[in-house]
Amino acid sequence: MIFKTVGIIGAGTMGSGIATSLGQQGVAVVLVDTSQAAVDRGLAAAKKFYDRAAEKGKMSTQDADQAYGKLTGATDLSALTDCDLIIEAIFEEFSVKEDLFKRLNAHLKPTTVVATNTSALRVSELAETVEDPTRFLGLHYFNPAAINPIVEVVKGEKTDDTLFQKCVTFITETAKKPIPCKDAYGFAINRFFVPYGNEAVRLLDEGVGTTAQIDRVAQDCLGVAAGPFLVMNLVKPKIMFHAQRNLGPHGAFYALAKGLADRGDTDYEFEIGDDATGSAESDAIIADRLRAATFLPVLQSLDEDVASPADIDMGAGLALRFGKAPCELMDTLGKDEVTRIVSIVTEKYGHDLPASLAKVGSLRG
Ligand SMILES: NC(=O)c1ccc[n+]([C@@H]2O[C@H](COP(=O)([O-])OP(=O)(O)OC[C@H]3O[C@@H](n4cnc5c(N)ncnc54)[C@H](O)[C@@H]3O)[C@@H](O)[C@H]2O)c1
Repeated sequence: MIFKTVGIIGAGTMGSGIATSLGQQGVAVVLVDTSQAAVDRGLAAAKKFYDRAAEKGKMSTQDADQAYGKLTGATDLSALTDCDLIIEAIFEEFSVKEDLFKRLNAHLKPTTVVATNTSALRVSELAETVEDPTRFLGLHYFNPAAINPIVEVVKGEKTDDTLFQKCVTFITETAKKPIPCKDAYGFAINRFFVPYGNEAVRLLDEGVGTTAQIDRVAQDCLGVAAGPFLVMNLVKPKIMFHAQRNLGPHGAFYALAKGLADRGDTDYEFEIGDDATGSAESDAIIADRLRAATFLPVLQSLDEDVASPADIDMGAGLALRFGKAPCELMDTLGKDEVTRIVSIVTEKYGHDLPASLAKVGSLRG
């Protein structure tokens, strides 16, 4: 293993999930939170995961015990002094993360690598809060991190190339699939997944279809295992609200759907009825718009060289369970059809057609 001891700061949903995954791979983990109760909850979640895996025969009892034995907890940053890599997974607030990184500087070895699991903030901006921005990057795990295989490895403007490659290798060593990415809002995967959900809400807002109909059409047109409303209910609509708002700098198409904006940061779920039927005409509109909302961001991120088509497809398949991966699907549909579909949203929101449209047909080589 490139990194033998990993510190994780924040023992919540993501921090405890990342700790669970690393412990299972034999990496020593120090899990830090502000209170002992939070640390204990994070460790207990890992123990529950290992125990269940053992019960189901996915791990031997001995392996489960060994994995749990790799995890220790602490409430003080001084416990991280011997770590080779530190992954920050605390609240998604720049000032909160900035305050932590400034305090963390005093506890780092000169060789320690520091990573953030941020979904929404600029890695390059956070990098300016640590002593050495060349040793800072994004490691964006997906929820549930204990089992989701994808990790976006995000290169900040100042991240050292060799160190970046080492982190890509470490992610592979720990049985995950790395997606090397540029530091762009939404990175590679949320860049299209979130607008796809947002477009589903727009279709609902406009009365084009019901939640159940839109979910059914999505299963057909993008091969998703579960439709956008079912998935948004799992992720929590308010998380989609924050994620979509974060994509705003990419332009008018990325504006929040009214149905997400109106309810904002509140706790609610979409109602999904049993009747998924709808007219053939409305089915066709839904399919075009869901595909357009997926294809445009993917093509734009290819223009911006955020990630490779193969990695975007891998992420779509493994992190989001899209049965029809976007680049492969675009290649199958061909340039003329993809241009027709993408124009539906570029014309409506005043975006240029992405230059990468010219490569459709051979995006995947
Ligand atoms: N939840 C997701 O689906 C998801 C997915 C990918 C990335 N992320 C990102 O991961 C990060 C963590 O998200 P989460 O969902 O695990 O949050 P969470 O609220 O479940 O957990 C955050 C934890 O951080 C702790 N914490 C806060 N400030 C701290 C500090 N100064 N020092 C130590 N611990 C501190 C809290 O006590 C809490 O236990 C965020 O940046 C989020 O955007 C979340």
